[in-house]
Order: sequence, then structure tokens, then C-alpha cells
Amino acid sequence: MEIDLRSDTVTKPSPEMRKAMANAEVGDDVYKGDPTVNKLEEKAAELFGKEDAIFVSSGTQGNLVSVLSQANRGDEILLGDICHIFGSEAGGVSVLGGVVMYPLKTNPDGTIDEDRITEAVKPDDYHKPSTKLFAFENTHGGVSGMPISKESSDKMALAAKKAGLRVHMDGARIFNASVALNTSVKDLTEHVDSATFCLSKGLSCPVGSIIVGEKDQIAEARRIRKLLGSAMRQVGVLAACGIIALDNMIDRLADDHENAKKLAIGLSEISKIEINPDNIHTNLVKFKVPENKGFEVSDKLKEFGILINGSYTELRMVPHYGIESEHIDTTISSMSKVMNSI
Ligand SMILES: Cc1ncc(COP(=O)(O)O)c(C=O)c1O
Repeated sequence: MEIDLRSDTVTKPSPEMRKAMANAEVGDDVYKGDPTVNKLEEKAAELFGKEDAIFVSSGTQGNLVSVLSQANRGDEILLGDICHIFGSEAGGVSVLGGVVMYPLKTNPDGTIDEDRITEAVKPDDYHKPSTKLFAFENTHGGVSGMPISKESSDKMALAAKKAGLRVHMDGARIFNASVALNTSVKDLTEHVDSATFCLSKGLSCPVGSIIVGEKDQIAEARRIRKLLGSAMRQVGVLAACGIIALDNMIDRLADDHENAKKLAIGLSEISKIEINPDNIHTNLVKFKVPENKGFEVSDKLKEFGILINGSYTELRMVPHYGIESEHIDTTISSMSKVMNSI
């Protein structure tokens, strides 16, 4: 069996999810007539303490729809310089929505200083875009899946709100943050207007993300989702997996975190690998190998049946559902052999 550590997105639906898909009660979700989708959306809204929720096809779409439902063409969004929306979503909010992205320096712990947010808000001047929105990420994928505490999230969100902005949280892996910090997602998102989370990463669903927020914003999100051609019909077959994810797959994320820590400690003991295991708190294990060696490392690991994405120097391994402690042992010993050979 291959040990696929490229991402938690490679997870496959559990046997319980497959059964639920087969048995899902469905209807036309464009008419709000799919009872399984309705149930998932209600469940998500309740879990986050928000008024409403909407099921979308992906995390990228969740962020896009969230931004476009809260900012118009020529408006500006402030966001971290290494966040997913800015760097890894093909510039969608600008390309499709005409929303200007203004990146702010991200601290090593994934936070953004409050005064950086406040100072970046543009004055009422017709030379400037109109700053409408601030977005941050939790956990932060750019800094090894760092979970952002309630205290830090609140500080950023409240600074943005004080400056008159709305706040969006890209919580693709918010349940990893919740488990790592032992803080509810409701608390972690108390002061954000909208939040997206992915069902298709550590929670192991085949497809889907959810946006939670206020009634009016989610109503607008429904219009934007339609505009993007992504309103779906008998989508309860997918939402059924989401319900199982929220019921049964959250607590087990702690296993992924434990495996990630074990992996980080093992890697730190191998020569020519740079990693501080103290910085690994959730499931993303980022480390450095000597410059220009990252592709060779990933190619050689493949010969041991271990898959990771190649890159110039920074590599990543992501434990997830289906990866057990013994797979971590195999990965560490294979990695040791690979590093000895380069
Ligand atoms: C922080 C973050 N936000 C958004 C996304 C986008 O999710 P998707 O791949 O479902 O579009 C990802 C995907 O890896 C992510 O890591």
C-alpha cells in the first residue's frame, strides 16, 4: 500500500459515508428541496452559532462566494500575504469579482498585527479602492497548520470591525484548530461575519465545503453561487457524508495531530532536515531539505511507496484518516535512507 502524505485532501470517504450516500434522501437543492443538504446546513449553522449556512463545492469556492457576497467590484479586501485566498486560488476574487487584494505581512504564528490592519484601511478618497473586508486563515496552512487561538482571532477580527470592515475567516481546517486548542468552533468564530470550512480535507468527505454567516449574507451567497454556475441539484448524496463528518470525524483529528508530532520529532533527528517539532500543532508537517533537493527527495521517497509533493526546498507531509502510527514509522525510516543518499 502506498503511504500518501501529499495532503489531507487525498482522504477517501469512510464505509459509513458510502452507506449514507447510497441511502441519502434527496431533492432539488436549487429549490431548497434537498432534505439532506438542508439538514447539513442547519447543523453547520448551529455548530458555529451563526444564522445560516450554505453548502458549496470546494474551499476555494467557499472563499470566493464569501468574498463576492460581501464586497463589490472596486472594493478592497485586506488579507495575509501568505494566505490561501491571496496565493493559491488563482486570484479568483479579483478575476471574477473585481475585488482588489491588499496583502498584509503575516507573523510567524500566522497572525496579523492589529495596527497593520487598521493602517491599511484606505481613507475616503476617490483615488483609492474602498476597503470592505478583512480575511484571515485558521489553521494557517502557510505556517505548518498553526492554530490561531480565540484571543488572537478576536484581536484581529475586532480591530477590523472597529475600522468598519466585515471579517471573513478561511477555516478550511478550523476543526483541526478547534481540536488542537480545545476551543469550540463557535468560540473561534465569535467575531467573524462569515467563515468557510472544508468537509473534504481531514474530515474525509469526497466533496464539499460550507459557508456560515448571517441570513442576509448567506442569501447573497446563494445568488453568487448560482451566478458562478455552482448551484447543484440532488446534492444530498454528498451532504450525507458531511453530516457523518460533523458527527463522527472531528474528534479523530487528534490522531492526525499525534501522528504529525511523532513524524516531526522523527524527521528532526535526521541529518540535513530542518524542522522544529515544537512548531507542529496540527496535521501539516512542513520541513526544509537542502536547497534544490526537494524534488529529488520526493522522487526517492516514491521508490519506498511514500508520496509527497516535490518542491525546491520546503516539503510537507500530512497525516490523515487512513494513516496509522506504523505508517509514520515507515516514513521516518525511509526518509532517513533517502537523506543519507542525497
Ligand atoms: C487554507 C485553505 N483554504 C482554502 C483551500 C481550498 O480548498 P479546496 O481545495 O477545497 O478548493 C485550501 C486547500 O488546500 C486551504 O488549505
